[in-house]
Amino acid sequence: MRILIKKDKDEVGICVADYLIKKIKAFKPTKLKPFVLGLPTGSSPIPTYKELIRRHKLGDISFKNIITFNMDEYVGIPENHPQSYHYFMYDNLFNHIDIPEKNIHILNGNAPDLERECVEYEKEISKVRGIELMLGGIGADGHIAFNEPGSSLSSRTRIKSLSYNTILDNSRFYDDNISKVPTKALTMGVGTVMDAKEVLIIITGFNKARALREVVEGSISHMWTVSMLQMHQRGIIVCDEMATMELKVETVKYFRNIENIAADNMFKTF
Ligand code: GLP
Repeated sequence: MRILIKKDKDEVGICVADYLIKKIKAFKPTKLKPFVLGLPTGSSPIPTYKELIRRHKLGDISFKNIITFNMDEYVGIPENHPQSYHYFMYDNLFNHIDIPEKNIHILNGNAPDLERECVEYEKEISKVRGIELMLGGIGADGHIAFNEPGSSLSSRTRIKSLSYNTILDNSRFYDDNISKVPTKALTMGVGTVMDAKEVLIIITGFNKARALREVVEGSISHMWTVSMLQMHQRGIIVCDEMATMELKVETVKYFRNIENIAADNMFKTF
């Protein structure tokens, strides 16, 4: 695992966007060999998306040969609802870049057969030979996508009932009214996320400090589903200083030290 510690969420966004752009350029995507990218929603990736848009407008990066797969979507809210993940993705990224519509994949939480939708999503990912780089965020309880505590660490894309914690957390987007928050979602499984060739998780803010400690210093556990990152050969966490508040000083020093050594070797050293 690599951990990159940045000053604040804006520096995290610049670092992640820059890393992604370097990866895409090194990959040299074409129509026949597109770059397949997994994407999250939430407040954590917003600075990254802003920076990607800025760099795109500068002519630094094109998304024409990028295929995206979003991690999750609520069940039962219309795509044009301001809290749907469809709406979020178009509003915060897709409307501002040159990605072809047909390259965008987001689970349909209104599909007539939700189970089939999940199976088909996995098939779509396989058809393009898997995800090259999966970006993710986490919940304060260490969940990845909507893989709530207790989810199988080898789970695939499926329907999940959301935990009370997540519903409470999300009520900030629904006039602080718990009864308005969707209770179910379609989500990539932990196994689906971990199948990506590289997984980069953004963790920012003091309210994620405990989760970061569990992921980095704790054991692999289905109660902190993102802890599965410990098993990934190319797992990266980019976090801000506030999120490191519960890590041991020794842990922070170690990762800062290897960051310096590996700065020129971003793509190789883990
Ligand atoms: C939801 C999403 C996750 C996201 C999490 C944290 O649960 N399904 O993918 O990581 O929210 O969101 P935020 O970044 O706003 O803290």
